[in-house]
Amino acid sequence: MAVDPLIELRDVNKHFGQLHVLRDINLVVGRGEVVVVIGPSGSGKSTLCRAMNRLETVESGRITIDGQPLPEEGKALAKLRADVGMVFQSFNLFAHKTVLANVSLGPVKVRGLKKGDAERRSRELLDRVGLADQASKFPAQLSGGQQQRVAIARALAMDPKVMLFDEPTSALDPEMINEVLEVMQQLAAEGMTMVVVTHEMGFARSAANRVVFMADGRIIEDRSPDDFFTDPETDRAKDFLSKILKH
Ligand SMILES: Nc1ncnc2c1ncn2[C@@H]1O[C@H](COP(=O)(O)OP(=O)(O)O)[C@@H](O)[C@H]1O
Ligand SMILES: [Mg+2]
Repeated sequence: MAVDPLIELRDVNKHFGQLHVLRDINLVVGRGEVVVVIGPSGSGKSTLCRAMNRLETVESGRITIDGQPLPEEGKALAKLRADVGMVFQSFNLFAHKTVLANVSLGPVKVRGLKKGDAERRSRELLDRVGLADQASKFPAQLSGGQQQRVAIARALAMDPKVMLFDEPTSALDPEMINEVLEVMQQLAAEGMTMVVVTHEMGFARSAANRVVFMADGRIIEDRSPDDFFTDPETDRAKDFLSKILKH
């Protein structure tokens, strides 16, 4: 793939107190690329994602999205958060708003769309994630898999340049995992730039252009899925894979 960088991290470092959680991180995500991030719990995967849309600040190094350094505050920061869509393990929907309102609120408030236009587009997106008939329900009336698909539609409604997924299926019952992965597969196939923290190896194998393996705050492998899964270079990765592939 020709490298057309959309996200670049250069020599990024972050501590939580004494704990060095991101160590000299260098990572480039090309436009249209799907990068899967895997690694043991506590290795810094969530912090890495959160740093990319400035939910966490970093102490040193440079992060750029589409050539622009991350803004620090105000409207520019709200726009960044719209450009860099994020889906969390714990859906994070507004409990007291309908599904349609959850999806259409951001485009009205941040992108300045008219309510009618935002709602029309939100219905299209709900249709795309298989929830056209759930628009007037409240989040608690939906299954976990449905709520996560609403969260994806909500991020997409902002027309993001990139989507970050932080263990989007980890809180789901097994029978709901696939319906969420299918939506993500579809997005990847449509050319969305994606950074996905997941232990779903089937997704990594079929949708990822690259697998990034983290341990102790460092990126220690950054390879094609085929290379990574068939021939991991480091003992850390071998050990990790042997544990998760047993399940
Ligand atoms: N807000 C925080 N304050 C202090 N320590 C944190 C905070 N967030 C994460 N950590 C610690 O930083 C390390 C990396 O966390 P995280 O990025 O969540 O890892 P992962 O997503 O790979 O499990 C862990 O040791 C975690 O306990
Ligand atoms: Mg995490």
